[in-house]
Amino acid sequence: MAAAYDAPMNVDELEREAEAAMAAAVSTDDLARIESELLGKRGPLALAHRELGRMEPDQRREAGRVLHDTRQRLEAVVAERRQQLAATERAAALDADRLDLTEVLPGGLDRGHQHLVTQTRDELEDVFVGMGFEVAEGPEAESDWYNFEALNIPPAHPARGMYDTFYLDLGEPETVVLRTHTSPVQIHLMEDHPLPIHAVMPGRCFRRDTPDARHLPVFHQIEGLVVDRGITFGDLAGTIETFTAAYFGADIHSRLRPAYFPFTEPSAEFEITCTICRGDGCRTCSGTGWIELGGCGIVDPAVFAAVGIDPAEWSGFAFGFGIDRCAQMRHGIADMRALIENDARFVRQF
Ligand code: PHE
Repeated sequence: MAAAYDAPMNVDELEREAEAAMAAAVSTDDLARIESELLGKRGPLALAHRELGRMEPDQRREAGRVLHDTRQRLEAVVAERRQQLAATERAAALDADRLDLTEVLPGGLDRGHQHLVTQTRDELEDVFVGMGFEVAEGPEAESDWYNFEALNIPPAHPARGMYDTFYLDLGEPETVVLRTHTSPVQIHLMEDHPLPIHAVMPGRCFRRDTPDARHLPVFHQIEGLVVDRGITFGDLAGTIETFTAAYFGADIHSRLRPAYFPFTEPSAEFEITCTICRGDGCRTCSGTGWIELGGCGIVDPAVFAAVGIDPAEWSGFAFGFGIDRCAQMRHGIADMRALIENDARFVRQF
């Protein structure tokens, strides 16, 4: 480019070319290079300045002023162009830095999700809500009265042996336990909820059990309670069968076998077709083709008496079964302890 300025005193041409070159600069770096080429120590203006020494004083003064003014104008042009380019570059950098938070990378993100037990609880709630039930919850720490006495299990009743209980407080003013089942929520509902009641009550329960393939000391149940007029055992059996087919699939059925619970009379154990062998008989179901899921029965009049409901007008049924057990059955999980080990390889599968 220096060749273009061989005629140093053709300052007008030099200025036009310099302005054009500055306008054509594509970046601040590019502009800095052009600036040092044109206005720097070895640039055409500097060279022209050196020529001044060979001139007559008058000529020199005039030429010196022209060079000085030209340099000033070009420096102003450079400054303005630098500002423009810097603004453009800043805008481009901001644009490049912008994060699109709505972007979805298919399969690319390792996002967390709800634990299988939570998913199972949600699905069970959905099935029962679809059947017309409300969802209710109660406390995990219960007084002895809610967990036992109001459920027709007085102190020293042999049925307490069914529940290996964690005690939080013993004796006066009242004994407090970690609830051993969700049945105490039935009592809260019957105290607080206007009749009739059609509700399910999911939640965490605690028993002093050693963990094994089918038991956890902290586990989940879902309780069901219906209190209405003219409720029969047929309503209970039909509800259980409808739920079983809705949750496990049309080829899984339920059956009720006589059992004992202090808070229901008559009581039954509720079993479903073994989901592993589909009823043929296998190791998991000990060759019977059936797996126990929970208990149920007609609400005992002693329970109605504890909460002041008139058994001449109202009748009801209740059921309760394990949510973890449901997940185990539905997904063929051989050992329930996998649910609490937090092994990501297990958790991710669901
Ligand atoms: N609460 C009982 C248990 O955990 C199950 C049950 C609930 C039985 C409701 C009958 C009625 O063993």
